[in-house]
Amino acid sequence: MRLNVTVNGRPRQADDVWPGESLLYVLRERLGLPGSKNACEQGECGSCTVYLDDVPVCSCLVAAGQAEGRQVRTVEGLAEGDRLDPVQQSFVDAGAVQCGFCTPGLVVAAHDLLRRTPRPSDEEIREALAGNLCRCTGYEKILDAVRTAADAS
Ligand code: FES
Ligand code: FES
Repeated sequence: MRLNVTVNGRPRQADDVWPGESLLYVLRERLGLPGSKNACEQGECGSCTVYLDDVPVCSCLVAAGQAEGRQVRTVEGLAEGDRLDPVQQSFVDAGAVQCGFCTPGLVVAAHDLLRRTPRPSDEEIREALAGNLCRCTGYEKILDAVRTAADAS
């Protein structure tokens, strides 16, 4: 099938898509957007989180066909040109990135939290990021990054 989807504000098309393949696969392998990561492919780790019609989803669990005609925003789409989104910048500044596999999903989840709750408590941050697993950082730097981003916005 041919898939029509708007990604980061641009209409995109992908041909020969199998309806059951994941939106994550389409983004990474067909549309050249490798920011969203494939770590578990089972909806367990959050590394593939993107916005679908402005709602964060695990793109590994979304069938490509379900994205037809819809709006997707990936971690690449959070930056404005060369200017990183404050959440992206704060992850860099706080040293919250080690291997980086979890980072795109965490950035999208934190971005969503801060637009809903600009001054979150630590408990609210932990709850919002509970679906995003990190094997490297011990989470403290990630919490620092989200607090910094909240202060910056
Ligand atoms: S790769 Fe999608 S939740 Fe882990
Ligand atoms: S930085 Fe490696 S999994 Fe989080």
